[in-house]
Amino acid sequence: MKIIMLGAPGAGKGTQAKLIADKYSVPHISTGDIFRANIKEGTELGKKAKEYMDKGALVPDELTCDLVMDRISQDDCVNGFVLDGFPRTIPQAESLSAALEKEGKSMDFAIDIEVPDENIINRMGGRRACKGCGATYHIVNIPPKKEGICDRCGEELVLRDDDKPETVKNRLSVYHDQTQPLIDYYNKKNILHEVDGTMEMNDVFNAITAILGA
Ligand code: AP5
Ligand code: MG
Repeated sequence: MKIIMLGAPGAGKGTQAKLIADKYSVPHISTGDIFRANIKEGTELGKKAKEYMDKGALVPDELTCDLVMDRISQDDCVNGFVLDGFPRTIPQAESLSAALEKEGKSMDFAIDIEVPDENIINRMGGRRACKGCGATYHIVNIPPKKEGICDRCGEELVLRDDDKPETVKNRLSVYHDQTQPLIDYYNKKNILHEVDGTMEMNDVFNAITAILGA
């Protein structure tokens, strides 16, 4: 099962991708998480990516595509994967299609989580991410059991650098310009499904599993 999560920043792609990955036993591949791990480790890729991420801009396709193609060619991806945050531009989508086509494969589902911009700013200010395992919470909507501590691994929860209101506004505008056209792209490929992302987290997940099947 090969799935793409589409949706604005803060729509809940990461939250739902983790639930899907657990239920269907496929890896969750988040380009944002991969870049943040590289920033934390101080790699060359991390240094380059940070320049763009801090402004809310996209990391250039040439730094992003090879990384994902390499990741999905690994052994744990044979039964599928959930892509979260990739593709984000038409050229990224085309390079993904081309790489899969070479092996006679194609994506199965593109799930677009719809959340209006007004809801997004509020969600981002309340988001906390785990420094250790990357799990995400919301201080009001999806709080951890113990304030500031990850339920999963016990590490500290922090506000992401790019969740400041002015950066979020820029990320939203980049989303509308460069990523939203993918909705039409995958609609034309007949794999697009839309889900109302303003519902409670479990209801969103139920809507997604109804699409993916048992
Ligand atoms: P990335 O990490 O992908 O960020 P994003 O797309 O901006 O999305 P977010 O992770 O902010 O939101 P999400 O949809 O995952 O929402 P979440 O589940 O956390 O990318 C970051 C940056 O990396 C980009 O700006 C770019 O610079 C770069 N980058 C990454 N991929 C790239 C690519 N392919 N090409 C180029 N550059 C790339 O939920 C948000 C909050 O809401 C959380 O607090 C959560 O707890 C809460 N929440 C979730 N669901 C619900 C619900 N149903 N009700 C209420 N609250 C909810
Ligand atoms: Mg995310």
